[in-house]
Amino acid sequence: MKIKKITKKPVLRNNIRNREHSRLKGVVSDLSQNCEDLGVKIKQQADEITLKSGQLRNGIEKQMRSEEQIHICTKAMESATDGIFIIDAQNRDFPVIYANQAFQKMTGYAKREILGRSYFFSYGTNADPRIVNEIKYTICKGNSFHGEMLNFKKNGKKYWNSLRIAPVRDSIGSVTHYVGIQTDITLMREKELEIGEQREELLHVTRVGKLAEFVSSLAHEINQPLTAILSYAQAAQRILENREPELHKILSYIINDDQRAADVIQRLRVLLKKSAPEMKLLDINVLINETIALIITDATVRNVALKIELKSDLPFVLGDRIQLQQVLLNLISNSFDALESSSHDAREILIRTSRKDTETIIVEVMDSGCGIPAGNIPKLFSRFFTSKPDGLGMGLSISRSIIEAHGGRLDGKNNPDRGATFYFTIPIDIIKGR
Ligand SMILES: Nc1ncnc2c1ncn2[C@@H]1O[C@H](COP(=O)(O)OP(=O)(O)OP(=O)(O)O)[C@@H](O)[C@H]1O
Ligand SMILES: [Mg+2]
Repeated sequence: MKIKKITKKPVLRNNIRNREHSRLKGVVSDLSQNCEDLGVKIKQQADEITLKSGQLRNGIEKQMRSEEQIHICTKAMESATDGIFIIDAQNRDFPVIYANQAFQKMTGYAKREILGRSYFFSYGTNADPRIVNEIKYTICKGNSFHGEMLNFKKNGKKYWNSLRIAPVRDSIGSVTHYVGIQTDITLMREKELEIGEQREELLHVTRVGKLAEFVSSLAHEINQPLTAILSYAQAAQRILENREPELHKILSYIINDDQRAADVIQRLRVLLKKSAPEMKLLDINVLINETIALIITDATVRNVALKIELKSDLPFVLGDRIQLQQVLLNLISNSFDALESSSHDAREILIRTSRKDTETIIVEVMDSGCGIPAGNIPKLFSRFFTSKPDGLGMGLSISRSIIEAHGGRLDGKNNPDRGATFYFTIPIDIIKGR
């Protein structure tokens, strides 16, 4: 029995050990499987974390970039010399939600006085209500406004405002805001007015100059028959001496009235005699530019391309500014007329300066107009010669006498292709010329 027991026990133990071993093996296998799953999960989560942190970093960078952009934009708007403002479009009072420093300076109101208040209040109480209503109407319809108007600063001072307002829309197209830019163009306006006045003055001078010349030569023409009448009347008096006292009396009336008429004419001629020109050192190129400023609007309206080719560093000339401008205006106005009578498309005027030789400067006014018929060339500078229905025919003759008084020469010719060129020379001021 005992021996049996001894032989049975190791078998049992072995079985137990084997079972334990395979259980443990199973546990180890489960464990390693779990470990593997865990590893995969950890890797997935790590990848996810890397992705998320990348996205986060991108988001932060993006935000930083957009913050920087906003900062730059705000700074730029604050530094702009034009007034910039933003209006809330959802509120019918048009309150301002942003106004840069230039806007505050232009209107004279501080930021706290502008923000939250109707934009239109910044125009001042004297602003034209029709224009204000037109602006409101335009922008309310979702359109842009562009125009110029007279505004008043906080202190009541006037200023000309060049204004642009445009609607700002959201993603579905509704207008959320209006953004505007306004520029103070008072100086520009004043300059334009000044130029306009100068132009009027010069045109007046030209007209008066022409009329004076006209009256002067008319006086000359009348003087001759008056002298003849006087001598005939005096001769008749001599013939009728001691006879026909009645006729004698009538003749003395004629002589008296004739002398009175001659006196009037003489006084008129003295009055119309040209006063001495004011001769000064002039830069002919500057003079041309000043003259162009006077007629540029006219050229634009007439659809004429006005070109200049001014030789730099030309020496000074000695001349009367107004008179030389009058010559240039006469030549340019003739070119305008010549372009009107031309059927050609190209409507150009070229004004050119250059040095003719060591002692003279030459100024040329070339046009692509109708040109001069060969038969008219010898008559161009004669007084009262004109081919225009409303012309006086004095422009060129006056211009020639002005240029000759300056020691130069004015002439004209047809261009080889089309149009004509009128040109004048003017001596360089030898002593003071550069
Ligand atoms: N650029 C030109 N092209 C063609 N013909 C010209 C040109 N300039 C002048 N003429 C001719 O010379 C004529 C005389 O010119 P001028 O300027 O003296 O008188 P006007 O232009 O006729 O009249 P006004 O003197 O009153 O301006 C003109 O009528 C025209 O026939
Ligand atoms: Mg003329």
